[in-house]
Amino acid sequence: MGSIGRFTRLAFGACALLLLLVAVAPSPSGAQQINPTASSVKEQQLLQELNRIQGRVSIPDQRSGVLEQPAGRDWREFRNVTLRWVGGIAILGILAVLVIFYLSRGMIRIEGGRSGRSIVRFTTFERFVHWMTATCFIILALSGLNITFGRPLLLPLIGFEAFSEWSQWAKYAHNYLSFPFTIGVVLIFLMWIAGNIPNKVDIDWIKRGGGMVGHDHPPAYRFNAGQKAIYWIVVIGGGLVAATGYELMFPFYLTGIEGMQLAQIVHSVVAVLFVAAMLAHIYIGTIGMEGAFEAMGSGTVDVNWAREHHSLWLKEEMARTGPNDAQQQPATAAE
Ligand code: HEM
Repeated sequence: MGSIGRFTRLAFGACALLLLLVAVAPSPSGAQQINPTASSVKEQQLLQELNRIQGRVSIPDQRSGVLEQPAGRDWREFRNVTLRWVGGIAILGILAVLVIFYLSRGMIRIEGGRSGRSIVRFTTFERFVHWMTATCFIILALSGLNITFGRPLLLPLIGFEAFSEWSQWAKYAHNYLSFPFTIGVVLIFLMWIAGNIPNKVDIDWIKRGGGMVGHDHPPAYRFNAGQKAIYWIVVIGGGLVAATGYELMFPFYLTGIEGMQLAQIVHSVVAVLFVAAMLAHIYIGTIGMEGAFEAMGSGTVDVNWAREHHSLWLKEEMARTGPNDAQQQPATAAE
């Protein structure tokens, strides 16, 4: 009994030692084996080993099984850090430039004073397209900026309830207004392409700084070089945000995950630069220049305004319609 008992204890001891050796011995490949389902496995360890965290899902879309992957972490860094810096610098930078410009230069006046005679600059249809596109753009810009900056800036101010309610409506607006905005960009492209092809006059206009400083009035046709820049920013920038926006709105139809991330990066960077550019446009169309707003308001401008800012266009219009066609009406004061 005694020797059998000793033998049994010895056998058990040997087996336990053998099992322990097997458990701690390195695997044939040399790599440490990880059981992804073991609760003790750390997320970081899994990422180092497999470079992604992925599981099985019961829904048809198997892509939803990927929880973490290297490109996703890089994209999150872009989304939460880089984009906020790029957007913040572009938008606050342009606002600072405009404030400094306004304080030093003030409103650009009609130097010759108002003539009291006005000339048609934009038709009703052109103004309708402009304001439809502009209204959509402003709502798209505010709701888009909420996606990028809402969490750090607005959420702490208004709280979770109000922020989620507003963000939900903002997202609906962002999705649905993309359609009239896209139509507006296409119409702007077609309507004004003829006046926006760069030519020799633009080089002289740029060399003379557009007459922004001092009392210079470089000649220009219907659109000067600065307006042509705005036009092409709207057409190319609008085209890019629309194309990438629809890619994001209908996910994975055209591309995989890397394509989706690229679409989001292009969409957001172009959008914040677009907003910065339009702030400069809105400035010059309102408080920056006397007599400009009425071009898009009533559709007519004072003849002296046209002479100072678009002398070649005025000549063309006079030759086309005859000088007496300029309406004899007191133009309303600009903003
Ligand atoms: C409150 C906002 C805005 C105001 C006050 C404004 C004002 C104006 C004015 C006064 C003009 C005529 C300039 C002239 O007669 O020479 C104009 C032209 C134009 N606007 Fe706007 N605008 C606004 C927003 C927008 C937006 C959001 C877009 C596009 C997304 C846009 C696109 C254009 C384009 C392409 C032109 C023709 C080129 C140019 O004159 O720069 N505008 N705008």
